[in-house]
Amino acid sequence: MSEVRERKLAHLELCIERDVESQRSTLFSEVQLLHEALPELAWHEVDASVELLGRRLQAPIVITGMTGGAPEARAVNLALATAAQKVGLAIGVGSQRAMLQDPSLADSYRMRDAAPDVLLFANLGAVQAREAGPERVAALARAIGADALCIHLNTAQELVQDEGDRDFRGLLATIATLVEELPVPLIVKETGCGFGPATLTRLRAIGVALVDVAGAGGTTWTGVEALRGSARQRALGETLREWGIPTAASLLFAERAGVAAIASGGIRSALDVVRALALGARAAGLALPFLRAYASGGAPAVLESAERLAESVRAVMALTGTRRVEDLRRVPRVLGPELARWAALEEVPS
Ligand SMILES: Cc1cc2nc3c(=O)[nH]c(=O)nc-3n(C[C@H](O)[C@H](O)[C@H](O)COP(=O)(O)O)c2cc1C
Repeated sequence: MSEVRERKLAHLELCIERDVESQRSTLFSEVQLLHEALPELAWHEVDASVELLGRRLQAPIVITGMTGGAPEARAVNLALATAAQKVGLAIGVGSQRAMLQDPSLADSYRMRDAAPDVLLFANLGAVQAREAGPERVAALARAIGADALCIHLNTAQELVQDEGDRDFRGLLATIATLVEELPVPLIVKETGCGFGPATLTRLRAIGVALVDVAGAGGTTWTGVEALRGSARQRALGETLREWGIPTAASLLFAERAGVAAIASGGIRSALDVVRALALGARAAGLALPFLRAYASGGAPAVLESAERLAESVRAVMALTGTRRVEDLRRVPRVLGPELARWAALEEVPS
């Protein structure tokens, strides 16, 4: 088995079985939306659909990229894709690095048969995109029929991994080239550490229109790496376990920088989804909860958790007197002190 494939399977197992979630808050708990006792609406009028990249999602939820690259991953991806299709969610595949090395693994990423209508995201690390060049990156998206491509950034995880990348130069230029040359839209995605204001301004300046903030407060990849590998890897992973910018803070920074954002990283309930939308997110993303649903009960459990989440989002919308997602931005809210302190952070000119 290749090194990348073996590592991916170890990651899946650790994420299912061990404590891989941050001890820190996403700070969505500091966003309190006001209850509306007289909503003056009927349940059937509450519409949680959103438009993302020109496509309509029936619920404002993305199953963010997790897996692929091993035959074992195919069943997981098919279960996730089937739920996304039935409930009308968007979905991403995990990093296609393994497929770049061995195109015969493409099948484990393919979701189109199970999900012909969903908004589907391809996925590759920025370092691998730098090495591969735009044509091979475009081919990865094409091979799975993706509508857009996520370029992920995971510096913290790479530094912790013994075998990780160490050269992060030229990634902004790589992203700028992809923005220009890819035939599909590009999403720049973190993987659990979020984006700060200056980074978002730099991304916006090169034409990035959509990010997935993937902030701190959910799955921690430094934490996952702390559970495997050498003593050095375990110790550094532990030191950096809680590193990053909380998801709600990163979302506010994206709003301020004028970059549209998917909010992910520690979204764990419909309350979090609706709070993220109220702060301006175009949609909210979840990874670990769907993987764990799969592990606990296979495809039916994934479908049930997706349906339940979508219905609960509508319930929270009704309780704020909101018929449409766009109107959530106007719902009165109380922000807690910690989030307000993050929001007050000035951008330091670079
Ligand atoms: C098992 C697993 C594998 C993941 N693999 C990838 C990946 O290959 N590429 C990527 O961009 N993000 C990957 N992620 C990160 C998620 O897409 C997401 O950004 C992050 O886990 C935060 O969301 P969560 O707290 O809901 O899990 C992975 C997450 C999990 C749980």
